[in-house]
Amino acid sequence: MNRVFSGVQPTGNIHLGNYLGALRQFVELQNDNDCFYCIVDEHAITVPQDPKELKKSILDVAALYLAIGLDPKKSTVFVQSQVPGHAELGWILNCVSVTGELYRMTQFKSKSKGQESVGTGLLTYPVLMAADILLYDTNIVPVGNDQKQHIELTRDLAIRVNHKYGEKTFVVPEGRFMKSAARVMALDDPTQKMSKSAQNVHSRISLLDDDNKIKKSIMKATTDSDGEVRYDVENKPGVSNLLSIMSALTDRPIEQLEKDYEGHGYGDFKKDLVAITIDALRPIKENFNEIRYSQDLIDALTAGAERANEISLATLKRVRDAFGMGI
Ligand code: AMP
Ligand code: TRP
Repeated sequence: MNRVFSGVQPTGNIHLGNYLGALRQFVELQNDNDCFYCIVDEHAITVPQDPKELKKSILDVAALYLAIGLDPKKSTVFVQSQVPGHAELGWILNCVSVTGELYRMTQFKSKSKGQESVGTGLLTYPVLMAADILLYDTNIVPVGNDQKQHIELTRDLAIRVNHKYGEKTFVVPEGRFMKSAARVMALDDPTQKMSKSAQNVHSRISLLDDDNKIKKSIMKATTDSDGEVRYDVENKPGVSNLLSIMSALTDRPIEQLEKDYEGHGYGDFKKDLVAITIDALRPIKENFNEIRYSQDLIDALTAGAERANEISLATLKRVRDAFGMGI
């Protein structure tokens, strides 16, 4: 059985980009793989967080994991800081990586741009991500396209260690990316990716948005003036983004959707997308409300951390031995 690992930062509400680009794959993979899904709070603190908000967000993401269909009996769901091995392996890998490769990461460049002072954690964040993955002898990492560079770094570090300390030290993982909606763009500006932190709430649809908000955000979404529902990312980025969202939510190919909307304006197309999105998110919201304040959620996270600890300790022992650390 293959081992799968992925993580989401508890930094605000999960949006349609997270769901279509990453989380949907999590559910798909849990039947045939040994899956570890983590809420990466140690990554979240690479930028300042309000402690109360962070705590709330951690449980929100955990509840959303279960609400979209992750089954704690099949998948190991846990919070990163409850497993100390992440920080320890992160340190060891810090000593294997070089600063030049970290300064080259595009996410670091964009997050540090224009900042007066930049936290060290923001620079070394991809090394912690590599530790998350390598700690579980992971084969497959389901993520959105924006994580490609971080997965490459993880592979580089694993191969580097294996060359120096023995080929069996780490399993070299592979990324898994969705064919459609691997990069969902912001509704108000389709040249930017949809993100949790953008100022304009109508730039994204969060999985917990109410029906009115969903309607408003989609009806306001930036399109263009030629009135044709056609996929053309370069010239029609807004409409193309909405088409890929619709295609991902309905499992219908984009060409089919283009045919369906031939001769229709953007109004009809957007109205249908509103209805489709509301229908898709309704069961998730219902499940979320049931799970969020339940003891079952805490029990699932406690059991998850226990299993994650057990597996990570075995990896750490192997790595410490390979490096000659300890007594
Ligand atoms: P984050 O919100 O940065 O913790 O991301 C969680 C997961 O969602 C990662 O696998 C990201 O690659 C993915 N993701 C984030 N934003 C988008 C987006 N706009 N489109 C597709 N996937 C995304
Ligand atoms: N860096 C990822 C993001 O911002 C989150 C993450 C942390 C992750 N550790 C991971 C994803 C390990 C996959 C595997 O989206």
